[in-house]
Amino acid sequence: MRIQEALWVGGRFLKEREIPSWKLDARVLLSAVTSLDRTGLVLKGDLSLEAEQQEHYHKLLERRAAGEPAAYLIGHKEFMGLDFKVTPAVLIPRPDTELMVEMALACLKESQERLPVVVDVGTGSGAVAVSLAYLLPELRVHAVDLSEQALAVARENALRHGVEKRVSFYAGNLLDPVDEKLQQNIHLITANLPYIPTTDIPGLMADVRNFEPHLALDGGVDGLELYRRLLPKASKYLAPGGHLLMEIGPGQGQEAINILPLKYWVAEIYRDLAHRERLVVARKL
Ligand SMILES: C[S@@+](CC[C@H](N)C(=O)[O-])C[C@H]1O[C@@H](n2cnc3c(N)ncnc32)[C@H](O)[C@@H]1O
Repeated sequence: MRIQEALWVGGRFLKEREIPSWKLDARVLLSAVTSLDRTGLVLKGDLSLEAEQQEHYHKLLERRAAGEPAAYLIGHKEFMGLDFKVTPAVLIPRPDTELMVEMALACLKESQERLPVVVDVGTGSGAVAVSLAYLLPELRVHAVDLSEQALAVARENALRHGVEKRVSFYAGNLLDPVDEKLQQNIHLITANLPYIPTTDIPGLMADVRNFEPHLALDGGVDGLELYRRLLPKASKYLAPGGHLLMEIGPGQGQEAINILPLKYWVAEIYRDLAHRERLVVARKL
């Protein structure tokens, strides 16, 4: 089978099985099998696949049709223009979370701190922590996750992008593992903690519900449980004027702001490109 034909046949196979991103996924899987990028697939469309490549492609298509996300099948995902390793131990970084990185950059610029220190809570693949360290060469990041398996992936991503000397990883709950000496000395905390209400988990898309780690999804009764638990320590660790960034789901903005005692915080809700509430940016007074 030629590459051009494989793309068409694979796309149709996924479309018939109601995979919404059928076109993109067929291309991504064929790229992984042939080691050709998007342009390469077009330019070499007339080349024939080898028998093993064809078999590998079929297996991947079948797994994708059964719901397995393409990023887990190929083992990586782009975030902030960087290529991140992903495994089923980590949430697949979402384009929506790039808003958190962009706002983090803006907050750090505003603070004009020469040697800023950031904590990334619930680091997962390290997408936020590693992107920030990559983009700001003076930055020091402390990244925490409950999952040792997720941290192993995050460490690999730090190495992959050459920031391993400036990002420290800790296993543990929220800010518990962060050195007490850093109290009042952190300039920014980024938190993309699980925020899906427990009762909404069964209604999630099957790809997410059946394949992504529930530890990365379940945010308790109203989805904001982990942010409530995070807040007392976040107040202690942040320097005055420091920022806390919390990723949220649509409709959670006001409730998330209500967690913050207004005597000590000013907060604003930011929306993603689809105009859905996505981020709370809070500044400690
Ligand atoms: C929604 S994922 C976000 C991953 C990554 N920051 C990103 O944006 O792609 C949430 C992460 O929080 C971690 N987590 C859940 N509960 C936690 C807790 N109590 N303390 C630290 N990390 C936690 C999960 O293991 C998961 O990796």
